[in-house]
Amino acid sequence: MTAKPAFGHILNVADARRAAARRLPRGLFEYIDRGSEDEVAIAANRRQLDAIRLAPKVLVDVSRPSTAVEILGQRLSLPLVVAPTAVAGLVWHDGEIALAKAAAQAGIPFCVSTQSITAIERIAAESGARLWFQLYVWQNRQRMLGLLDRARAAGAETLVLTVDTAVGPNREYNTRNGFGIPLKASWRAGIDVALHPRWAIGVMLRALATGGVPTYAHYPEEFRTKLGRVTLSDEVALAADVTWEDVKLLRRHWRGKLVLKGILRVDDALAAASHGCDAIVVSNHGARNLDCAIGPTEVLPAIADEVGDRIEILADGGVRRGADIARFLALGARGVLVGRAPLFGLAIGGADGASHILDMLSVELRRTMAFLGAPDIASAARARLA
Ligand SMILES: Cc1cc2nc3c(=O)[nH]c(=O)nc-3n(C[C@H](O)[C@H](O)[C@H](O)COP(=O)(O)O)c2cc1C
Repeated sequence: MTAKPAFGHILNVADARRAAARRLPRGLFEYIDRGSEDEVAIAANRRQLDAIRLAPKVLVDVSRPSTAVEILGQRLSLPLVVAPTAVAGLVWHDGEIALAKAAAQAGIPFCVSTQSITAIERIAAESGARLWFQLYVWQNRQRMLGLLDRARAAGAETLVLTVDTAVGPNREYNTRNGFGIPLKASWRAGIDVALHPRWAIGVMLRALATGGVPTYAHYPEEFRTKLGRVTLSDEVALAADVTWEDVKLLRRHWRGKLVLKGILRVDDALAAASHGCDAIVVSNHGARNLDCAIGPTEVLPAIADEVGDRIEILADGGVRRGADIARFLALGARGVLVGRAPLFGLAIGGADGASHILDMLSVELRRTMAFLGAPDIASAARARLA
């Protein structure tokens, strides 16, 4: 990997995070970076990953490494998927398109969020990426099915139903720093934006000049609230009554692959398999929701043991190094989602910045695999835990 000159000083995800913190208004940066309540879970996710040590196998020919893998019937260059992240379009102008381009360049899918600022039709037309679509169930199920038809028509192959967000999380730092959706005008937010002129001009002014105040692009036209105005209609608010009946409904309605994201228990993983889901994402939502949630790495081995032969197991939360990907693979994941890491790259350089992050993770993964004596992903998955 030869880094583009602009990113020569960004040697790892932590460097990108620091640079993103300087570039973005504080409220937006904290929305991306931080956890919820006392931020116990986010620290735990990191601690638990760090505690996973792998035992290298020596005297293995690793001169021709391959990180290729098949996930949900798709051949990918890396065992990675760019996770759905709401409001990526506030991080960079047309941020979702930029992220999707970076994913396409890396040979991996991009998962479009329900709460995307850019519509899936434009992301499909302008990125050339393989698209997955993430769904938050809306109170009005008919409208939700309409959204799915739209996603399918735009070319989404895989539907990811997020099941861990029955209610909005408690992020007190965002109450303090004034960032929220809908965006609210306040002195504090105004000063924050003024102190970050590159973002103010490159993202906010550009949005105002081209399409007006950013909106949730997938919300029905008549409810589509400018992020700067009042709340969304109840009809498209997050539903708190999502149950396995909704999974049945989606399984009937969606002809592509169906994934449940946010599973942390063996019984729920078994239920996902028996409801005909194709995969699950073992995830605590990047420690952004329930602060006393168990960590994905704590439950992954048991879930992989119980259902790994019936459905594909993906996982996420805290990946900042290629070694973290190797750790998840060794615990039983077939692939890993990355949320914040590419967003930090997006913040500092759009599609090129996000590509730089994915390239670094790829190089680090290859190096880790070589040290482990794992020439391919199947052998990386067999790495012994110390
Ligand atoms: C800014 C941000 C927005 C997110 N928005 C969504 C979303 O709309 N839907 C969803 O299922 N997960 C969402 N997530 C969670 C990610 O999909 C993923 O589970 C998490 O970021 C993984 O942890 P990591 O960021 O440490 O890689 C979001 C995460 C971040 C950081």
